[in-house]
Amino acid sequence: MGCAIIGCGKALPALDVTNDDMAKLVETSDEWISKRTGIKSRKVAITETTTDLAEAASRQALGWTDGGYSERRINPEEIDLVILSTVTADVLVPSNAAIIRRRLGLINAACFDLNAACSGFVYALTVAEAMVAASATTKTRSDMVRALVISVDRPSRITNWADRNTCVLLGDGAGAVVIEHDPSRPGILSTYIANEDDVHNSLTCPMPLDVVPPFDEEGVNLEAAHQTEKSHASIDEELGITESLEAGAPRNVLRMNGQQVFKFSGRAMKQAVSQVCECAGVSLEEVKLIVPHQANERIIDFGARRMDIEKEMFQVSISHRGNSSGASVPMALSDAYEQGILKKGDKVVLVAFGGGFTLGAVLYEV
Ligand code: ACO
Repeated sequence: MGCAIIGCGKALPALDVTNDDMAKLVETSDEWISKRTGIKSRKVAITETTTDLAEAASRQALGWTDGGYSERRINPEEIDLVILSTVTADVLVPSNAAIIRRRLGLINAACFDLNAACSGFVYALTVAEAMVAASATTKTRSDMVRALVISVDRPSRITNWADRNTCVLLGDGAGAVVIEHDPSRPGILSTYIANEDDVHNSLTCPMPLDVVPPFDEEGVNLEAAHQTEKSHASIDEELGITESLEAGAPRNVLRMNGQQVFKFSGRAMKQAVSQVCECAGVSLEEVKLIVPHQANERIIDFGARRMDIEKEMFQVSISHRGNSSGASVPMALSDAYEQGILKKGDKVVLVAFGGGFTLGAVLYEV
C-alpha cells in the first residue's frame, strides 16, 4: 500500500512489418497469423538499441516527452531506483539500467537489470514496490521514494526468422512506469510472483557465451582456446536444445512448444489474477481493467473464458505489435491511459506469464 503509479510510457521502433511481409520470409499467410494470434503487424528495431527504446519509454513515464501518462514532471534527482527487465540486453556490463541512469542523469538512482522473461515487468514492479515500501519502514542508507521500472525487449535479435512457429509472433518495444511512495494513496494493493518448472522445455533461448578459455582439465592449454565451447553441450542437453541443433537450427534463438505454452498461459493468467484479488480482498467485479501479457490474443480469449469474465475487461494491444515479451504489459497500460480508459480510483490488474515458467500479477488503484 502507498506506492502509486505516477507515470507510464512506451516506445516502439519505427519499422512496421506486416503479416504479408512475413509471408515473404516463411510459408505463412495473413489469414493464418490473424486467426491464430490476433496479430496483423509487428515492430522490428533496425537502428534502435534496447537501451534507446528503454530511454524513450522512460522519458514519457517521467513526463519529459508527450504521450503516455504522467501526473507531473519528475526531476532526474528524484529517482532513487531503476530496475530494467529484459531478455535482450544490449550489453552484460554495465547493466542496461545503469546506461539509462547515465543518459537521463538519474544521479541518485541505484540500478540493476532483471530477467524473468515475459513476466519481467510484473517481477520488476513487484521488487521495486517491495524495496520502496521497505525503505519507508526499515533503517537503510538507501532511501527509496521513487522508482523507474522499465521492461524492454527486442525479440527480433533472438528470433529464428526461418521458423514460422515463432517468428510471426514476436515484436520489439519498451514500456516504463514511475512509482512513488505516498502514504495518502492506496496505490499498489497486492503483488504476486511465482514459478513453476517448465518440464517440457517449452520456452528456451541459449546465451551466446562463446569465449573458450585457454585451459583444459590439466590446466593451461593454448590450443583449447581454438576449440569450440564444450560447456554449452551440457546445458543444451538439459534444455532439450541438442535435437534442434542436430537438425541444423541456429543455437542462440528462441525455441517454443506453442501448445505447452498455451496450456500454461491460460492457467497462469487465472491463477495470478485470483491471487492478487484474494490477497487484497478485492472481487473481480470491482476491477475496472485487466492488462495481460500480450502473448497471443487467443490466450487472452481463453483466460477470459476461464475466469468467466467479458473480453472487454482486458486491454488488448497485440494487433499491431505482436508479442514484445516483458514490454507488452507496460505498453498496453500506457495505451489504456492514453485512451482515457483509466480514472482515479479505478482498480487495475497487471498480469503476466512466460519463460521459466514465470507468472505474476500486480493489483493497484489509479
Ligand atoms: N503459418 C502457417 N502455418 C503455421 C505457422 C505459421 N506461422 N506456424 C505453424 N504452422 C503450422 C504448423 O506447422 C502445423 O502444421 P502441420 O499441421 O502441417 O504440422 C499447423 O500450423 C498447426 O500447428 P500448431 O502448432 O498445432 O498450431 P496451433 O493451433 O497450436 O497454433 C500457436 C500455433 C499460434 C503458436 C499456438 O500454439 C499458440 O498460440 N501458442 C501459444 C504460444 C505463444 O503465444 N507464444 C508466445 C511467446 S511465449 C510467451 O509470451 C509466454
